[in-house]
Amino acid sequence: MDGASTTTKTAYQSGFGNHFASEARPGALPLGQNSPQRVAHGLYAEQLSGTAFTAPRASNLRTWLYRLRPTATHPPYRQIDGADFASAPLGDCAVPFNRLRWNPIELATGATDLIAGITTVAATGDALAQDGCAAHVYVANQSMQRFFFNADGEMLFVPQLGVLHLATEMGHIDVAPGEIALIPRGVRFRAILDGPVRGYICENYGAPFRLPDLGPIGANGLANPRDFLVPVAAFEDVSGPAVLVAKFAGHLHQTEIDHSPLDVVAWHGNLAPYKYDLSLFNAVNTVTFDHPDPSIFTVLTSPSAVPGTANVDFVIFPPRWMVAEHTFRPPWYHRNVMSEFMGLVQGVYDAKADGFAPGAVSLHNCMTSHGPDRATFDKASSADLVPQRLVDTLAFMFEARHVYRVTQKALSSPALQTDYDACWDGLGKLS
Ligand SMILES: [Fe+2]
Repeated sequence: MDGASTTTKTAYQSGFGNHFASEARPGALPLGQNSPQRVAHGLYAEQLSGTAFTAPRASNLRTWLYRLRPTATHPPYRQIDGADFASAPLGDCAVPFNRLRWNPIELATGATDLIAGITTVAATGDALAQDGCAAHVYVANQSMQRFFFNADGEMLFVPQLGVLHLATEMGHIDVAPGEIALIPRGVRFRAILDGPVRGYICENYGAPFRLPDLGPIGANGLANPRDFLVPVAAFEDVSGPAVLVAKFAGHLHQTEIDHSPLDVVAWHGNLAPYKYDLSLFNAVNTVTFDHPDPSIFTVLTSPSAVPGTANVDFVIFPPRWMVAEHTFRPPWYHRNVMSEFMGLVQGVYDAKADGFAPGAVSLHNCMTSHGPDRATFDKASSADLVPQRLVDTLAFMFEARHVYRVTQKALSSPALQTDYDACWDGLGKLS
């Protein structure tokens, strides 16, 4: 195929998990079959599966790609230094049984692209067993001149500063703070930047994120399916040297190819990158009393084999009204079996008055005792319980089934707050 590459960057299709069909050149998609003897425009047909072929229909994910060259055309990969981009299992390092909190990571100084700017804080499970997840922070200041894909898991981006322009095999996604974007396992992409960026990544080794069941909430609410946006086909017909980096089995591997791998002219299927504006989350909460469990704020869940027990949940604490009567309105003190990696996109988190700035991280592993700090407890215990709107806030959790191990990089970081325990000082007997 000759001709310029398509450049559509802002068009989206909508709906979570829909079976989409998109073509950047008219007639590129086969009709009535997936793999004709000869594909129109001289394209190659290639299937990308995100679940086992025999996964139940409701959870089966796959997409057919019609591309200028099959992805099989590449020389051998060789392992390269992954720097601070680590994977579970993190080895036999001892995990301190302490509440842990880190100041925001410093913005990148030297030229850093998104992949080089990933630092793993913690990880659970086993990437090779496709179980668990990793929680990373990222900083970058350069557009990627190389292409990347992750065979170990899907990547959920939670930007805290700056916009990521994600050019993927299926098209383009722009994601800004307040939004999230997900790149499925195996999908090639590069991130183009306008300036410095910072944010968080959940690398999910397990079952792909899906929308949670709603139970008694009914047919609507929380993250509504039609608000998820998926790109339209856009391709690069570019020949010339290109570097392709893959993450596989916990390591980065590099090969050199002679073209852009973002050469998918048309595609159809239900496995695709997507984005979601977190301000569209339809929060459900009490209108009587008490503070419900944070599961009411689940945006996406990766189920485990145990019913009701997620491999990892993505949970947000968005701007909302607080109206509970005769109630201590912030989160209660608690110890949970699930382990909580937390970050803050903007504003203030309602359980912590100080010490948890946008870009910061906290980790409360299984059975660590935590909850509001002293200042928050005092204020909430005597607050006038009129309806109150929390406005400047957007915190989130990667809430995992397995205990998080912490990287040596994170444990030795100067950003680690050595006095975190002190925020609960003074919570003595009240009478
Ligand atoms: Fe918690």
